[in-house]
Amino acid sequence: MQVVVSGIRPTGKLHLGNYFGAVRNFLEMQEKYRSYFFIADIHSLTTHPTPQDLHGNVKQVLAEYLAMGLDPAKCALFIQSDVPEIPELYTYMNMNAYLGELERSASFKDKVRAHKDNVNAGLLTYPVLMAVDILIHKADFVPVGKDQEQHLEMTRQFGNRFNRMYNAQVFPEPQAYSSTGELVKVPGLTGQGKMSKSGGEADAIFFDDDDTVTRKKIMRAVTDSGPTEPNAPKSEEVQNLFELLKLVSTTDTIEHFENSYADCSIRYGDLKKQLAEDMLKFIAPIRERIREVKNDSAYLSKSAQIGAEKARESASATLKEVREIIGFRKFY
Ligand code: ADP
Ligand code: TRP
Repeated sequence: MQVVVSGIRPTGKLHLGNYFGAVRNFLEMQEKYRSYFFIADIHSLTTHPTPQDLHGNVKQVLAEYLAMGLDPAKCALFIQSDVPEIPELYTYMNMNAYLGELERSASFKDKVRAHKDNVNAGLLTYPVLMAVDILIHKADFVPVGKDQEQHLEMTRQFGNRFNRMYNAQVFPEPQAYSSTGELVKVPGLTGQGKMSKSGGEADAIFFDDDDTVTRKKIMRAVTDSGPTEPNAPKSEEVQNLFELLKLVSTTDTIEHFENSYADCSIRYGDLKKQLAEDMLKFIAPIRERIREVKNDSAYLSKSAQIGAEKARESASATLKEVREIIGFRKFY
């Protein structure tokens, strides 16, 4: 069976973009593939979180993943730091990752520019750790967005280099995966590009927010002064609201507002009210489940344990092979 691996850095609550861009694909994949979905807590150490924040964020994402339908019986849902084989392989792979290529990575350059005061070695070798996450399970597919394509290319490079160096076919070449063939981009509420937690509090709709917060955010979303002639093209801000409507509303509702936009009778207040209600209908059951799961420490702990066992089984098989190939052969 083909293998899928994907990770997310635990940096807070999940938003609608995370769901439609990532988690929804995971739900399909866990039915079809041997899937490894993990919380990249080792990766997140590059930004020096406090122990409380780190633990709280890992718990939040684990609870959200479970609440959204990732099933510990169908996939391996695990926490990266529960798999000691990952840092072990990372050590070995670092020996064949070169300073020049790591310095040329676009995400490293971005980070250096943004955080001049914290250019640590972990940041430089981030692509090596990510490659290990993927290679350790011999993944065929990695469902990630466009921003991660370069990391995936580096993963193939590191895997192939290892294979060549030891003249062994250990690591297959992982490919980017998208179920629809095109990558979904959920717009934010501030009219500027994709929904993102770094876009400020007003930009993203979080699953774990209360109804009042979500309603307020949607009612305050940026619009324009309205269509001035029949069938006018939409501004980016208004187009974004329609994109969000398409994610959660019925076809009748979407048609109604498309028509009223086309004949200039639309009132953005009505559109937002409807969007808020449909959004809450979609979010509320998941949010209730998130809160239940967060309070169910037995379920959280059982899930993390099952996930760690599955991940370690696969990772330790790869490590056994790698150690032998490298020449770490036992004298005892
Ligand atoms: P953020 O941009 O809020 O920091 P992350 O970078 O942690 O989100 O993204 C985690 C996952 O969610 C990635 O797979 C990414 O491709 C997906 N994702 C994030 N925002 C969006 C969005 N607005 N539309 C589609 N997918 C998204
Ligand atoms: N670098 C990814 C991001 O920033 C997270 C990540 C870490 C990941 N390891 C991975 C994604 C392995 C896919 C596979 O979003």
